[in-house]
This record gives sequence, C-alpha cells and structure tokens, in this order.
Amino acid sequence: MQHYTKPVKEFVEEHPTGVAVVLVTGVGLFVLRRWLAGGVCRSKARLDGKTVLITGANTGIGKETAVDMAKRGARVILACRDMGRANRAADEVRKRSGNGNVIVKMLDLASLQSVRALAKDVQQTEERLDILINNAGIMMCPQWKTEDGFEMQFGVNHLGHFLLTNLLLDLLKKSAPSRVVNVSSLAHETGKIHFDDINLEKNYDAHTSYRQSKLANVLFTRELTVRLKGSEVATYALHPGVIHTELGRHFLPSLPLWKRLLFLPFFFFVKTPWQGAQTTIYCTVNESLQNTSGLYYSDCAPKEAAPQGRDDAAARRLWDLSASMVGLA
Ligand SMILES: NC(=O)c1ccc[n+]([C@@H]2O[C@H](COP(=O)([O-])OP(=O)(O)OC[C@H]3O[C@@H](n4cnc5c(N)ncnc54)[C@H](OP(=O)(O)O)[C@@H]3O)[C@@H](O)[C@H]2O)c1
Repeated sequence: MQHYTKPVKEFVEEHPTGVAVVLVTGVGLFVLRRWLAGGVCRSKARLDGKTVLITGANTGIGKETAVDMAKRGARVILACRDMGRANRAADEVRKRSGNGNVIVKMLDLASLQSVRALAKDVQQTEERLDILINNAGIMMCPQWKTEDGFEMQFGVNHLGHFLLTNLLLDLLKKSAPSRVVNVSSLAHETGKIHFDDINLEKNYDAHTSYRQSKLANVLFTRELTVRLKGSEVATYALHPGVIHTELGRHFLPSLPLWKRLLFLPFFFFVKTPWQGAQTTIYCTVNESLQNTSGLYYSDCAPKEAAPQGRDDAAARRLWDLSASMVGLA
C-alpha cells in the first residue's frame, strides 16, 4: 500500500484540476443516476394467502414485480405467451424469493380466444384473485395485426387487458379489497385515441400506435374506477420510468448502427428492471393507497395524467368501443 501512496500523491499534486474534474464528474454522474432511478417502494406489507396475477412476467419489470410479490408470500401466477421462457422465469422467481407457490399460465394477449381461455382457467382453478397486474406490453412493432385483426399494439396493450380484466372482475370483487394495476407510460402524454381509425389503417405509425395504446391504459383505468365504485376493487395506472428491458426489441434493430451507438451512453442513465418495478409494487401493496382509486402514478408518487388522460367522455367512449371490439355485452 505504502508503495502506491507516494506516486498517487505526486500525481494529484501535479494534476489538481484534472483530478478535481474527474472526482466532481464521477460524483455528479452517480448522484444523477440515483436521482433518475426514482422512488423505491418502502412498504413492508405481506401478501400471505393472497393471489397475484401478472401479465408478461417472464422478463423485464414484470419478472422483477413477480419476485417482489413472491417474497411477500403471495401465490404468484405468471401469465405469459411463451411457456419455455415463462417456466425458466418461474424457476428464477422461486429461487430468488424462496417461495415455491409460483405458477405459470398461458396467455397470448394478441388472441381474444387465449384471453378468454386464461380467464376461464383462473375462474375454475383459483379460489381468489387479490391483485391483477396488467403489465405486458409491446412497443413500436411493424404494422402487425392480432389474431382477431386488431392493430397489434392497441390489441395487446389495451384490448387484451381490457377483456382479461372484465372477465376476472367477479373474482376480484369476491376477493375484495383487491387491486387492478395498469402499467401505462409517459408516452400517453403525447397520445390520442383515433376513434375514426382505431387500428390506424389509414396512416400507420409505430410511435403513434404505442402512444395511443398507453393513453388507452390511462383512460381504461379512469372508466374502470367509475364502474367499480362501491366494490372495494381499487385501480391504478402508472408510468414505470425509462428502463433497460427488452421493450425496444422491435425499435432498436430497425435503427442504423450509428444511431444504435448513439444510444449506448443513454443506457447508463436508465433504470434497472428492479428500479423500474418499484412504482408497480408501490401501487400493488402500499397500504395508504387502498382507498385511493383511479389515479396515475410515477416514481412511487401520484402524478397528474395528461389532460387527454383525464377526459371522462373519451374514457366512456373508449370503453364502449373496446367492449364492442372484444365482444363484451
Ligand atoms: N421499459 C420501459 O422503459 C418502459 C417505459 C414505460 C412503460 N413501460 C411499460 O412497461 C411494461 C413492461 O415492459 P418491459 O419494459 O418490462 O418490457 P419487456 O421486457 O419487453 O417485457 C414485456 C412483456 O410483455 C410480454 N408480451 C408482449 N406481447 C405479449 C402478448 N401478445 N401476450 C402476452 N404477453 C406479451 C412479453 O412476453 P415475450 O417475452 O414472450 O415477448 C414480456 O413478458 C409494458 O407495458 C411497457 O409498455 C416500459
């Protein structure tokens, strides 16, 4: 140790400005990264005896949420479309949480028949459902269609979850007090519901479609709250932050190499999946929120949704349109 002290001291004395700049920059970057990581859910609430269903829980923030729910003692259902990935994720969730009560069920949100089959399975085999976390999502894919002919992002991010939630409402009500948590995005702030061309057939744009689907999550939460009044089923919509997950899988490969390289420094500042799961966990377990339904959250705190996300008439109109699209009475 003595060996290195002298040259280090000499170096600092010879380059005081350079050393100070490096130190201040390092500390600044560290503080900035911690600040961008956002809030952490501090609740110690236990979920023993409760059942939690999470869509898209085989990776990203869904998987991290599943680990947290399992650590709190819940029975956790990972509702996923790829059974290989889902089973591997379930093994990891069991291992990391020490809770063996983690199961996998098949759900492809791009198929109404699959959504109905999962809901039927849950109704028939589960005694209760305390928490439904509508987390799965697809972002900026090409102009794809779901099995039922709907535009993919609207179909998966909104319509599939809309139908699933409605089909599970009786069980949620039976298990009340219970919660529905909808993972939306900041992207809703620049979103618009294209009522005259909901599948964006006239002019498809991957950004526009993602924003529309995430605004739909916020409006769905709003109207669901109205319809659940007096039921003790509370609802929450949230923005999880900007997180390093697989969500960019359709978007990033479409960029030229130089643009992808430009994105590299950006990854230093984004949240980890654990950090990205914190607001979902907060909305799911925080005791103080049980009597607060229908709000929008970001960084483990309430935040005002964009004006178009607070439009009650649009929320009702979207509900009626969605119900007719998925064939709900
Ligand atoms: N990451 C961010 O920066 C960010 C920012 C704002 C909001 N969000 C929202 O956070 C949520 C979770 O995203 P993430 O970042 O964790 O992304 P992710 O790592 O890509 O995870 C998305 C999950 O959704 C599943 N999924 C996609 N299509 C599905 C379908 N048709 N049926 C069933 N499951 C499907 C995926 O399953 P497969 O693995 O089988 O495809 C995966 O499990 C999304 O709703 C997203 O919009 C994320």
